[in-house]
Amino acid sequence: MHALAGFILHEPQILEIANRFQKAMTDGLAGKSSSLKMLPSFLTKPTGQEKGIYLAVDFGGTNVRVLTVEIQGNGAYRTLRRRSFPLRDREEGYDFTTRETAGSDLFRFIAEQMEAILVPGQTYPLGFTFSFPSRQTGIYQAVLIKWTKEIQTSGVEGYDVAELLQKTLDGKNLKQVIPRAIINDTVGTLLTAAYSDQQADIGSICGTGHNTCYLEPSSPMTGKPMIINIESGNYNELPATDYDMQLDKQSQIPGDQRLEKMVGGQYIGELTRIIIQDFINNKLLFASGRPEIFFTPYNIKAKDLARLLADESPELTGVSQWLKTNCQIPCSLLEERTALRTIATTVITRSIQLIAATFTGVLKHIDPGLEKQHTIAIDGSLFELMPGYANKLNSTLKNIFKDKPDLITTKLTKHGSGVGAAIAAAIIED
Ligand code: BGC
Repeated sequence: MHALAGFILHEPQILEIANRFQKAMTDGLAGKSSSLKMLPSFLTKPTGQEKGIYLAVDFGGTNVRVLTVEIQGNGAYRTLRRRSFPLRDREEGYDFTTRETAGSDLFRFIAEQMEAILVPGQTYPLGFTFSFPSRQTGIYQAVLIKWTKEIQTSGVEGYDVAELLQKTLDGKNLKQVIPRAIINDTVGTLLTAAYSDQQADIGSICGTGHNTCYLEPSSPMTGKPMIINIESGNYNELPATDYDMQLDKQSQIPGDQRLEKMVGGQYIGELTRIIIQDFINNKLLFASGRPEIFFTPYNIKAKDLARLLADESPELTGVSQWLKTNCQIPCSLLEERTALRTIATTVITRSIQLIAATFTGVLKHIDPGLEKQHTIAIDGSLFELMPGYANKLNSTLKNIFKDKPDLITTKLTKHGSGVGAAIAAAIIED
């Protein structure tokens, strides 16, 4: 399919993106103009011996997760209580992500979720995972630079989210909670993996949003090792197709988060929809009509793509079922089903290749001759649930580093973003 040609990346292009990404990292670290913010976390890796009971809040943009975690030492931890709530629920009639919602309402909602899992009489040091680009000036100060993932809640951008949370805790007289650390979810993922694996030095989220952090051997701030939140989702030196441009133009902040808009779970369904819409407009698909679903923005989700990719049957009966139940298309031709699946696969494959390119850039930065073992800790729905995603990401990396493929391991670090907040609080207390 000619229209998809711009999505196909070959190894030389992947390597070129990796090299440019590496240069953008160095520029960002040096304070030069770069689409990579390279934000300091004020944290380094845990020893694996930290201990205690902590409260963690994981605020990612889709759900608020609260958990109490026992950090046990020797690389072990266990979750004691956990609760997860969506930020928007049409049936319940609430949405904390719109411009009409005040930040104070959002933080009250978060505090209510916390309160529900606390054991009376016990105090909890708190680690707070806040998964948005935030300028930290210390371990418990984080000013939100800008919302991403299409969130628009008012009165949070430009404010210190630690202060907003503190105000809410004071308002509720919630003295059991003692805020200690605020971290990005990539940092949480890296901390969780590194708690039991000293070779973990890169953390990434491949989910609704996308971003990566790594252990910088010599932070410009201290000259010592520090985990740096790259905010790689904002990387912008990329070969964009017309479809990417269209998605960007219609998004909340055009021009921002260009990589994330090409790879993240929030956007890949929409990108697929835009392509399908173009195919329909050009009479290349569903000649008999204009199925509503493909003409309504953000109506196709990453989980729809997962359904298309999961179907490996010769007649694509799963795709046919999806078209019937989700798109009100009772009859489809095999070639239409094949085309849909090809479009979805193409979008997903590029997502994987671009992310592999950025990981390659990070690896080249921290270990130019690739001499050491590296674990890349990854959390997020795409890496965990999208059929074939984790395997293909792994094989793409191993192919790039074909001389020493065994030195690189990718590892699903489930719930790492939340548990990592507890570990961060434990590091601070130690
Ligand atoms: C945010 C990052 C975050 C990532 C994954 C992006 O939209 O800018 O801070 O790490 O999503 O949640």
